[in-house]
Amino acid sequence: MKIGLCTGGGDCPGLNAAIRAIVKHAVGTYGMEVIGIKDSFNGLESRPYEIRPLSVNDVSEILNRGGTILGTTNAGDPFKSDPAQADRIKDAYNDLGLEAIIVIGGDGTQSISGKLNKMGVRCIGVPKTIDNDLAATDVSIGFQTSVDISTDAISRLKSTAESHERVMVLELMGRDAGHIAIHSGIAGGADTILLPEIPFSYEAVTNKIKERQQLGRHFSIVVVAEGAYEAGATPIYKEADTTKVSQNKHLGGIGAEVAKRLFELTGTDTRITVLGHVQRGGSPCPYDRVLASCLGVRAVDLVQQKKYGVVVGIKSGSITETPYEEVVDVTLPLKPDSIYIKTAEAMGICLGR
Ligand code: F6P
Repeated sequence: MKIGLCTGGGDCPGLNAAIRAIVKHAVGTYGMEVIGIKDSFNGLESRPYEIRPLSVNDVSEILNRGGTILGTTNAGDPFKSDPAQADRIKDAYNDLGLEAIIVIGGDGTQSISGKLNKMGVRCIGVPKTIDNDLAATDVSIGFQTSVDISTDAISRLKSTAESHERVMVLELMGRDAGHIAIHSGIAGGADTILLPEIPFSYEAVTNKIKERQQLGRHFSIVVVAEGAYEAGATPIYKEADTTKVSQNKHLGGIGAEVAKRLFELTGTDTRITVLGHVQRGGSPCPYDRVLASCLGVRAVDLVQQKKYGVVVGIKSGSITETPYEEVVDVTLPLKPDSIYIKTAEAMGICLGR
C-alpha cells in the first residue's frame, strides 16, 4: 500500500515528530510505502511532482527538530485560486496510485483536505496549530510548546518589569482564540490577560496597574492576545505587508496600542514585546512529541483499516476520529465558562472587565 504524507499551514513544533511516527509505523509495522509531498499539496500540483519516498532512515533524528522536513505553506487554497489545481492534485494522486494522503494541518489545510476527500482523494487529517482552536481535538500539536515558550517570555520580562518598575506588555499569537494567552498568562504569573473572547476596557486594566502600585508592586505584566480588542472596537490587523507573498489578513498591533494607551493613562514607563514566530519555533516539548506520535500512529492505523475522511484527535484523554464535515471551518475559542477564565479571575488576574 502506498500513502502520501504532507504538512500544510503554518509550521509548528511537533510536525517532524508526527512525520516520524507515521513513517515508522506505516513502513515498520505494515510495510507501506510513504511518499512525502512538498509544501502541503503543492508537490502534487506541480509538474513534475515534488515528492520523495520516505524511509525509516529518512526520519531518523528528526523527533526533536522544529519545523517540517516536508516544507509547508499557508498561502494559496487550490479551491479558491484556480479550480483546475484541485483536479491536478487528484490526477497526481491517481497517477501515483496513492491509497490515501495523511495531512498534518490546521483549519485551512483540513478544510482543503475535506474538499479533496469529497472529490475522491482519500484523506486523513492530523491536527496541528499553536492556536489550539480546532474542533477535532482538545489539544493540537504545537500548542503546548508554544505555551512553554510564551511562559518563558513572561518570566524573562518580569525581571525587567520589576527592576525598572515598568509595565511590560507582551503580544502573543493565537488568531481569534486566547488559548495561548490564558495558559501562558496563568503559568507565567501575568497580572492582566487580554483575550479575543472578552472585549476589554482600559479602565479595568488601568485600575489593576494602580491597585498593584498602591500595594507596593510597581510593575505589571500585561499579556495581550493578538486578537484581543477594546469593547466597542474591532480587532486590529497589520497594514498590508510588503514582505509577504500572500496578502492574507493578519492580526497584529493591539499590543503596541495597549502599551501606548496604558502609558497615557498611568504615566508608568511601559514597553511592548511582540513574541511573533518565536512562539512557533524550535524543538517540541515532550508533550508535543508524545501527542504527535500518538496521533500519527493512529492515522496510520486508520489507513490500514481503510477508514478515511476523518481527522484524528484527543478528546477527554481518548484518541478519536471525527468526520471532516463535523470539524472543518469550525474554530473553537475559549468558552465563557472555561475553567481557565474562572481560575484566572479567581486568582485576581485582570481579564480587562
Ligand atoms: O495559526 C498560527 C499562527 O501562528 C497564528 O497564531 C498567527 O496569527 C499566524 O499563524 C501567523 O501567520 P504567518 O506565519 O503567515 O505570519
